[in-house]
Amino acid sequence: MNDFTFYNPVRLYFGKNQVAQLETELPKYGDKVLVVYGGGSIKRNGLYNDVMTVLEKLNMKVFELSGVEPNPRVSTARKGIDICKKEGIDFVLAVGGGSVIDCSKLIVAGAKIDEDPWNIVVKKVDVKDALPFGTILTIAATGSEMNSGSVITNEETLEKYGWGSPYVFPKFSILDPTYTFSLPKNQTVYGIVDMMSHVFEQYFHDATNTPITDEMCEGVLRTVIAAAPKLINDLENYELRETILLAGTIALNGFLSMGSRGDWATHNIEHAVSAVYDIPHGGGLAIIFPNWMRHNVHVNPERFAQLATRVFGVNPEGKTAEAVALEGIDRLSEFWISIGAPSRLADYEIDHSQMETLVEKAMVYGPFGRFKLLQAEDVKTILEMSL
Ligand code: NZQ
Ligand code: ZN
Repeated sequence: MNDFTFYNPVRLYFGKNQVAQLETELPKYGDKVLVVYGGGSIKRNGLYNDVMTVLEKLNMKVFELSGVEPNPRVSTARKGIDICKKEGIDFVLAVGGGSVIDCSKLIVAGAKIDEDPWNIVVKKVDVKDALPFGTILTIAATGSEMNSGSVITNEETLEKYGWGSPYVFPKFSILDPTYTFSLPKNQTVYGIVDMMSHVFEQYFHDATNTPITDEMCEGVLRTVIAAAPKLINDLENYELRETILLAGTIALNGFLSMGSRGDWATHNIEHAVSAVYDIPHGGGLAIIFPNWMRHNVHVNPERFAQLATRVFGVNPEGKTAEAVALEGIDRLSEFWISIGAPSRLADYEIDHSQMETLVEKAMVYGPFGRFKLLQAEDVKTILEMSL
């Protein structure tokens, strides 16, 4: 294992009716609350009303920022920052998916600086403070509810980057599986692909002797693979929703990378693709990840074979590690296709025409990936395999 420091201060409230916990949490921070949300799903599923009822009961002064886009834009964060500065907001409440939470993270950090928030995203400015914020999660996917990362798009320059800071851990996150019932099948699938991809990114690392986190990763994957096909045919099943909701949080709250540093190259490539084409993050990962795997099997075939046998039930008898590995990758592809995920960039009408731009955007900070350092030609190969 690598030496590591673990820090995660997020208080989770998980289960039915946990929105009531706002009554204990919010009074700690003051009475001016900015509620941030997306395109309206929380109004349709009743969560908006449930939140406002509590805020009224607490006599909070409520401000709102709605319309946060999937793949949230820096321009939307700027609007939120303006409200925070002008109104002297005490607390930001993010109600929605990863996009709403990520946008809120930039708002709370941006509210404490005089510069443009994009400078935080491109790491020209160090985050040294942030307003306190909490989240009510409505989609199992990113893990943003229990981590300190955020991914933001600059729609003018078509760039999309991740950034993070210990100052932007949520103070608390409320996870009530009931509010994920309204999530349509396609978004449910994107979330499942995303959380599985987070596990893969951390499973393929450059450390040795990681038996605990190996088993944890494999356990999360097996659980998701068992629950997902049932859930997509039974979207209002509480037990399946709660399983997937917790899986999404565990997949990216730091537990799975204790003692190792993950690869994260596939995420970097996907962010370049969704920066240019504005496709759903989980959809992009479903297409690119199996091809990243195929391209890199040779780096450590035994590692891929371990995944294939322990998670995808591949029988290794009489086969080379590489053959077992490739069979496992094929099973992953088949699994994602079986639950309705896309498998080719062509599914989003993406062709060869912007290939150079995609490679350039992915390479902006130079070669990347810890399990295997990717050069521009590797990125191009993986994207071409994905067309
Ligand atoms: O905008 P609304 O109307 O709320 O609709 C959303 C949106 O259209 C809808 N939705 C969410 N909850 C719903 C619902 N519809 C019905 N019922 C509900 N309960 O789902 C759509 C997608 O929402 P979004 O927040 O964009 O999804 P997700 O949570 O997958 O977030 C994706 C973003 O997170 C970034 C991605 O790159 C992408 O920008 N990521 C953030 C990470 C992090 N902070 O740690 C890590 C990830 O790897 C990822 O890169
Ligand atoms: Zn992701």
